[in-house]
Amino acid sequence: MSSLDKDRVEERLATGILGQWYAVAKSVQVKPGKPHAVKALGRNLVLWRDGRGKLNCLEDYCPHRGARLSRGEVNADNISCRYHGVTLDGTGTIVRVPAMPGCALEGRKAVDSYAAIEANDGVFVYFPSAEKPEPCELKLPAEFSDPAWSGILCMGRWACSHRFVYDNFADPMHACYLHADSFTLAFGAKQDVMKVEPRDDGFHIARVQQQDVNLDWTHVVIDGGQVYCRLDIPYPAAAGPGGPFRIIGYTTPVDEQSCLVFFWRFRQVSGIAKESWRFLYRAALEGRHWHVLEQDRAMLTNIPPDAHKREMLYQHDVGVARMRRTLSQQAKQQLAAEDQASARAAV
Ligand code: FES
Ligand SMILES: [Fe+2]
Repeated sequence: MSSLDKDRVEERLATGILGQWYAVAKSVQVKPGKPHAVKALGRNLVLWRDGRGKLNCLEDYCPHRGARLSRGEVNADNISCRYHGVTLDGTGTIVRVPAMPGCALEGRKAVDSYAAIEANDGVFVYFPSAEKPEPCELKLPAEFSDPAWSGILCMGRWACSHRFVYDNFADPMHACYLHADSFTLAFGAKQDVMKVEPRDDGFHIARVQQQDVNLDWTHVVIDGGQVYCRLDIPYPAAAGPGGPFRIIGYTTPVDEQSCLVFFWRFRQVSGIAKESWRFLYRAALEGRHWHVLEQDRAMLTNIPPDAHKREMLYQHDVGVARMRRTLSQQAKQQLAAEDQASARAAV
């Protein structure tokens, strides 16, 4: 591969692999009757709900003279620009130019629209690629639809590349060091060996000599139109019902220097136990969890963006290496598909 190709792969990895779904917001952020602006994969987007509450997502750009649609208003199922009132539907088609009825712009598809869905209080948007222009099926984590599990979503924006968050997902060994002063992550041995096992949907990275003591494994899913991690933190009886604290983590590039992070905190509870877990979480555990996340955020946002040029990996980074290799293969694949598509178009 030429150095130009390597640069393209790097750029794609930095801005975000396409042909996949990304979490972009919490459901509650998209309030009925109000546009909500988000930035993801370097693109400004606007989300709003139609009259039935269904989500729409468009490029946040008015085709008239470029104003941000998110500064406008929701009109029944459509969105109207505040500047001169041009109104678009959820497909990005201009449906009305109120200052000049019958204007030739009406009926023109003028901006990109994106597929958006909601699941477990989160909003996911599909970013098409040349090889997968239509949204693929999003195979969400089983916990999202299994009534035996109850999850609570937290979200943040971190000033670092999302690639550092992916590395962090694939690195369970950091827990007993970085989080050693926390409620649940202080236990177990400080030394170990890591092993990676391939799975149909990604890979599993685990400590060899210790299980169910600390954050001892991560399941990284790179499949079903998304990337996420699943991990368990063993919880003491004092932390209420439901066994270990399961985290499902997603990250989304905002741009090359910042990202969104989404963590669903699950426990295996239903009925009364579910209510008591949710209460206990809000009242006592959430602050502790934020403390742990803050340790990750402070660490990752202070790593120099070009650290990969001089890093010295050792055996424990086998998950990080697997993560990077898999994503790099995906980036290469989609760039090759784009090249083929443009070659076909040129003939
Ligand atoms: S810029 Fe949006 S209506 Fe004029
Ligand atoms: Fe961490």
